[in-house]
Amino acid sequence: MAESTKNATLQLDGKSFDLPIYSPTVGPDVLDIRKLYADAGVFTYDPGFTSTAACDSTITFIDGDKGELLHRGYPIDQLAEKSHYLEVCYLLLYGELPSASELEDFESRVTNHTMLHEQMQYFFRGFRRDAHPMAIMVGVVGAMSAFYHDSTDITDPWQREVASIRLIAKMPTIAAWAYKYHTGQPFVYPRNDLDYASNFLRMCFSVPAEEYEVNPILARAMDRIFTLHADHEQNASTSTVRLASSSGANPFACIAAGIACLWGPAHGGANQACLEMLREIGSPNRIPEFIERAKDKNDPFRLMGFGHRVYKNFDPRAKVMKQSADEVLDLLGVENNPTLQVAKELEAAALADPYFTEKKLFPNVDFYSGIILEAMGFPTSMFTPIFALSRTVGWVSQWKEMIGDPQNKIGRPRQLYLGETLRDYVDIEKR
Ligand code: SDX
Repeated sequence: MAESTKNATLQLDGKSFDLPIYSPTVGPDVLDIRKLYADAGVFTYDPGFTSTAACDSTITFIDGDKGELLHRGYPIDQLAEKSHYLEVCYLLLYGELPSASELEDFESRVTNHTMLHEQMQYFFRGFRRDAHPMAIMVGVVGAMSAFYHDSTDITDPWQREVASIRLIAKMPTIAAWAYKYHTGQPFVYPRNDLDYASNFLRMCFSVPAEEYEVNPILARAMDRIFTLHADHEQNASTSTVRLASSSGANPFACIAAGIACLWGPAHGGANQACLEMLREIGSPNRIPEFIERAKDKNDPFRLMGFGHRVYKNFDPRAKVMKQSADEVLDLLGVENNPTLQVAKELEAAALADPYFTEKKLFPNVDFYSGIILEAMGFPTSMFTPIFALSRTVGWVSQWKEMIGDPQNKIGRPRQLYLGETLRDYVDIEKR
């Protein structure tokens, strides 16, 4: 916890209340209001937490005005270019880039936990074939609590470590099996001789009837997509994981809660919604119609993949994703992909429109990711499961940080009550 270096003073009903101010290593100062209700008898009011720091953290920093994203101080564009997902996982989990031997040990531990308990496949078979893969992931990840009892005691650091590795290692298998179940194809088991991204692609796209060769360019693009989605400060799903964990719930239940939250179209579900929107627009000449709809307050339509609670500049991940989209589509020989064409022209039209520039609405991580994933062969229903797979390390890292925080206590917000005051029950005969 940072030390208070100065105070703010709140004047209320003729009384003064000192609010300690803490300064971060970088970013805005915070006002400590923890004693406000006890001292002044008032709550603060912040629906959507637009101005609320809910915790300390040393994992990820976002500067929304600069469009900067740092993981343990390292900028996302450097990590996306020079690192790879499991190394970023190590960085997020343990705070430093690993040595060669540390990385080899970590990758070996993850690789050797990629299989699921054989009994878990019957969970998948309980779903309808047309179940959304996210519904399957929420169910199966929650069910891990019923299979891995030796890593559910959150007071045991070793069990926390095992649960962390299990979640990171098994999420690709769960996501791939959700896809295979959806297609009616047999499950494909992970292979220990493949890297993380190649393993996932093979579990998704190989079939017993023929050999499957992983395309190294697609594996690299897949790994980069995992890295770009790994963590993102206190976003809605991470905050869900933290709140669920604050009650002492086991890690698998908490991560399942995070997956459920991520599914929403305002959050991780935006990549699927964005590609469906680009398809609905269909051609550049329909872009003005959709821009007008997005600006119309009476129309609930929003440009999916645009805008962000924190970024009031370009999402740095969107920049990397846009470069990747060009590279991957060229390499796949998918020139002039109509959806990518619409996306680029939609971006240009929106960023030339004062409505978007004045409200600082820029493309976010979800705007280009779906185009790459579709070109790689994934159906739109798999876009958010891939986001969930990638974000598992972020959820787990933030969960571990919170459990280890001596200030950790159950999260229990209050409210501004606008309902009825006390009144007596009325018998039905008198209503
Ligand atoms: C992710 O938090 C994270 O870090 C999330 C994430 C992560 O990595 O975890 O980055 C991943 O969720 C990215 C965001 C994906 N969602 C979308 O692309 C859905 C479309 N975007 C919007 O729903 C919206 O921009 C949000 C939800 C992302 C942010 O909403 P805010 O911060 O609550 O902003 P707001 O709704 O108050 O909007 C401010 C204004 C409003 O207009 P006014 O009421 O001020 O007149 O901007 C408008 C909004 O109507 N607006 C949009 C818009 N987004 C906001 N108008 C048209 N199209 C949009 N996309």
